[in-house]
Parts: sequence; C-alpha cells; structure tokens
Amino acid sequence: MPASIDVIFTPDLLPLSPPTGKTVVVADILRATTTITFAIANGALGITPVLTPDDAFECAANRRNTIICGERRGKKVNGFHLGNSPCEYTKTAVSGKQIVLTTTNGTRTLWACRSAKQVFVGCFLNLQAIINSLMQVEGEVVIVCAGREGSYCMEDTVFAGACVASLSAAHLTDAAEAANILYRAHRHNLPSMLKDCYHGRKLAEIGLADDLEFCAQLNLVDVIPYQIDGQIVSPHA
Ligand code: MLT
Repeated sequence: MPASIDVIFTPDLLPLSPPTGKTVVVADILRATTTITFAIANGALGITPVLTPDDAFECAANRRNTIICGERRGKKVNGFHLGNSPCEYTKTAVSGKQIVLTTTNGTRTLWACRSAKQVFVGCFLNLQAIINSLMQVEGEVVIVCAGREGSYCMEDTVFAGACVASLSAAHLTDAAEAANILYRAHRHNLPSMLKDCYHGRKLAEIGLADDLEFCAQLNLVDVIPYQIDGQIVSPHA
C-alpha cells in the first residue's frame, strides 16, 4: 500500500512538489499518454519523448527503424510520419519500430518527471494495470496531470481520481481527495466527460471526435509503459 497519494494538476506545479524519489504516473488522457500506451501495446520498441518538432527531427536523424510522430495544435506536424491520434498507432504502423514523439503537453510532462524513482504512463486504456501496479508501491505515489499549457484539465484529473478511488493509502492529499470526488461524479459517463471538456471540444472542432471515444475505453490493454533514461519502453522489453 502506498504511503501517500498526491495529484499534481499541471506540470507547472512540480517545482513546488518535486517528483524526485517518488513513483509517478503521468496522465495526458487527450491524447499523449493514450497514444503512448496503445503504441507500446502494439509492439513499438521504444518511444523517445522530446520537447519540440526540431528536437524530434534531430533525435531521429541517423537512427534506423525510427518514425517521427506527434502534434502541434492537435494536428500532425509537417514531415512527421504520424500525428497524435492513438488509433493511428496500429500494429502495422508501429510494431518493431522506435518512435520519437513530441506533443504540446504530454511529452513536456514526461520530461519534467525524469527525476522520479519510477515513471509509469497511464490512461483509461490501462487503468486497471496501473492500479494493480500502484497497489504494490510502498512509498509516495504522485499522479501528474499534463494539463493544458500550464492550466488545469478535467480529463486528466478524472483519470487521477479513478486511480485514487481504487487504492488505499496511509495519506491522501486534498488534491487526491478532490480528484476522487470528480471521478465519482463522472465515472458512469466517461465518454460524455471527454466530449464536454475543453480539450475534447477543441479536438472535435478539428475533426478528431473519434479520438474521444477511443480515449474513453477502459482496460483495453494491460501494458504499463514506463520511462527510463529518457525512453519509454514496454515492461516486457
Ligand atoms: C498534448 O500533449 O498536449 C496532447 O496530447 C495534445 C493532443 O494532441 O491532443
């Protein structure tokens, strides 16, 4: 059982509560952590999160078997192989490949958590696997929401609350309690919550409404991608 569970609503708050030495789950439900989880479940060998499109081109240069992926303003970047729609990351597209990924908030949050003891990548697709794994943790657990350009995001907080709701811990912070309450308000209508939240509405406006249904799926896979030495890999790698 974890000693404590905290929820950080945006990576901009991490300087106040550094992740060093803690077990972190990074959540960017729309859509980066959903995309990463599905890509790893479909056999991607590893994902290198980088901060900018220029970094992505540089990181992939001279690397074999590597595709460059991600978004800006929700859309695929010119010259990239894939955008940030999880359903693009099929077995055919990613199995056996290395991925260099840059997204507006998700990859930035993964970078910001690099000093943690361990960093898991979580989303509704692997919720139960994340919960099972957190049950084994004895130290401090922090769920870090990617948020949206420094501000709060409902969908990431609801996911954090779904983790809190299924875990016992010696101590829950007020942020964890608040996330739990928000999850309980939405647990029977996750697809509607994703459609109604700000980011969901923005994605629908640019023709990506199908991604909302996809990201709302519960326990589609049982992998827990984790970040080590700047790379996200499969637990079976
Ligand atoms: C992000 O990292 O901000 C996103 O995953 C944005 C998106 O593509 O929906």
